[in-house]
Amino acid sequence: MIVLAIESSCDETSAAVLVDGQIRSNIIATQLIHEQYGGVVPELASRAHQQHIVRVVAQALAEAKVAKTDLSAVAFTRGPGLLGALLVGASFAKAMALGLNIPLIEVNHMQAHVLAHFIADAETPYAKGPGFPFICLTVSGGHTQLVRVDAPLDMHVIGQTQDDAVGEAFDKSAKLLGLPYPGGPLIDRYAKQGNPLAFKLPTTEMPGLDFSFSGIKTAIMYFLRDKTKQNPSFVADNLPDICASIQHTLVQMLLTKLKRAMHETGIRQVAIAGGVSANSGLRTALNQLGQDQGWNVFIPKFEYCTDNAAMIAMAGYFKYQQHDFVGQDISPLPRLAL
Ligand code: KG4
Ligand code: ZN
Repeated sequence: MIVLAIESSCDETSAAVLVDGQIRSNIIATQLIHEQYGGVVPELASRAHQQHIVRVVAQALAEAKVAKTDLSAVAFTRGPGLLGALLVGASFAKAMALGLNIPLIEVNHMQAHVLAHFIADAETPYAKGPGFPFICLTVSGGHTQLVRVDAPLDMHVIGQTQDDAVGEAFDKSAKLLGLPYPGGPLIDRYAKQGNPLAFKLPTTEMPGLDFSFSGIKTAIMYFLRDKTKQNPSFVADNLPDICASIQHTLVQMLLTKLKRAMHETGIRQVAIAGGVSANSGLRTALNQLGQDQGWNVFIPKFEYCTDNAAMIAMAGYFKYQQHDFVGQDISPLPRLAL
């Protein structure tokens, strides 16, 4: 069974090929155009997808040594994401499925982030992933969710952010520090040389398993304003300590709710997924917490944390087995829920 998968929900144009359950190629074209605007510009994202998609798909097929005519199905990201960006991938996938007369599979991007844990590739041919049920903390630029996963295609959100996503909190904090977009990875890098307890930042607690990250962004803004009044070069003088403190605060906010979810459900297997799961502070802190609590911790490979089509292919693989196909009348849904 050979699946071609296409991801175009935000600012990454990606295509992957999966052969008999194993990823053979995963090509990602990152759009650098957005950096100068300090965030993703939807119209520019759609245009860049248009420019990249033919080359990216051709490269994914070539690297996997697969001919178009060998494909069993085409999977694509239906949502959530930017409408114009999603339309490029969806239209391309529909045209390919129609032209080759093969099934079309729609994939939920957030479900795919979770299923990245089941990706097998040349380096890890027998990846098993967590057993069921497990709790997945899915953390990206647009989402922050606690998900109970009972089977590959049976997931339920048990807690989520009521405002900003944690990736947004990383990126907006970085912007306040004068760092370019996307700032999350840069905060991570500077934090490695800083003291996470150097500055205490106030946090807001939401009831139950929900999160809120808009307050911390405002708190950081006031904190920097006050400190810069006293010392105009405060940011330049203290960048590693500021980054380490911001990262520590955000990671603790995530882990507090994760711990609560584990206690409430009694589940002892835990995973993280999404772009922010690439954060080294989160990875280390979760491993430590897992050891203390006796949990089985699953952390994805770096390349499958941020947006990629390999995870879309994995979701497509599970859906193919269930003959879960869609017709040509399918359209993207920017707010597709899990
Ligand atoms: O999953 P993803 O690639 O795209 C969405 O679906 O949103 O996540 C992107 C987010 C961005 O906010 C980016 O800053 C954040 O993930 N991110 C990180 C790191 N790597 C990516 N945040 C903190 N530390 C990192 N190492
Ligand atoms: Zn994503």
